[in-house]
Amino acid sequence: MASKNSSSSLCLMLVIPLLVSFYVVACSAGDFNQEFQITWGDGRAKMLNNSNLLTLSLDRASGSGFQSKNEYLFGKIDMQLKLVPGNSAGTVTAYYLSSKGSNWDEIDFEFLGNLSGDPYILHTNVFSQGKGNREQQFYLWFDPTADFHTYSVLWNPQRIVFLVDNTPIREFKNLESLGVPFPKSQPMRIFSSLWNADDWATRGGRVKTDWSKAPFTASYRNFNANACVWSAGKSSCKSNSRTNAWLSQELDAASQQRLRWVQRKYMIYNYCTDKKRFPQGFPLECTRS
Ligand SMILES: *[C@@H]1O[C@H](CO)[C@@H](O)[C@H](O)[C@H]1NC(C)=O
Ligand SMILES: *[C@@H]1O[C@H](CO)[C@@H](O)[C@H](O)[C@H]1NC(C)=O
Repeated sequence: MASKNSSSSLCLMLVIPLLVSFYVVACSAGDFNQEFQITWGDGRAKMLNNSNLLTLSLDRASGSGFQSKNEYLFGKIDMQLKLVPGNSAGTVTAYYLSSKGSNWDEIDFEFLGNLSGDPYILHTNVFSQGKGNREQQFYLWFDPTADFHTYSVLWNPQRIVFLVDNTPIREFKNLESLGVPFPKSQPMRIFSSLWNADDWATRGGRVKTDWSKAPFTASYRNFNANACVWSAGKSSCKSNSRTNAWLSQELDAASQQRLRWVQRKYMIYNYCTDKKRFPQGFPLECTRS
């Protein structure tokens, strides 16, 4: 199990007999500073409020980014994000897991900004062994800039599920039996960045970033990972541990119904229905998802 969960149960044990000030040191200092490092942006990424809050910013000179200290091989990973408010056209907030090397695996959330009042696009993708081209895009059923919302990845040996406020929006099943590679042997790190992509992000690049509104800022809080940490060639998870229910979790009937609701009402692009793109026939996984 990753440290966030164990540290919060540790906190509970400590806070009862000890002073509140100790609680603050034992748990809050942990959060972002313990789990993540700022990797670029020359001061534009900041850990605030005792490392309970992380902000990324973007201006004309640079964006910024961070990554997890740990690598994970499977997990249920939650992060709360509040996206760039107002006129965010041209900006992209990427939040993803990725392994290394030329045959890398990757699980992507990308938030494409828009003019004030126009909807963000949530762009998703799954790469296995260096091959992606599995884009699905969604509008959200709320304003993602007005408050924090939870974006999660459930990644176990059978499936990858993307969730928004616990509602599944996409499932990528393990279909190795059909010959579709599935990410299951390369540990991944969590990455996030805020950058300018006004050549493609908003209305296909037709709306440009308004630099007079810079700096643009996105915020992160309440990271939580129930995950297998990969370290020195070994997983922190015991193979038959009953505490890791997420390792075999599947979507129950109610979740599948919500997934269909999102896909019916909010999905705006699905590679699996893009006939123009796949004139020779859809990718194999499209026949079963
Ligand atoms: C600062 O962190 C505390 C938890 O220690 C949290 O309750 C509070 O909402 C945070 N404030 C902001 C502005 O994020
Ligand atoms: C921005 O708003 C326009 C108009 O509503 C919409 O067509 C587009 O999908 C929105 N999102 C992005 C990222 O372009």
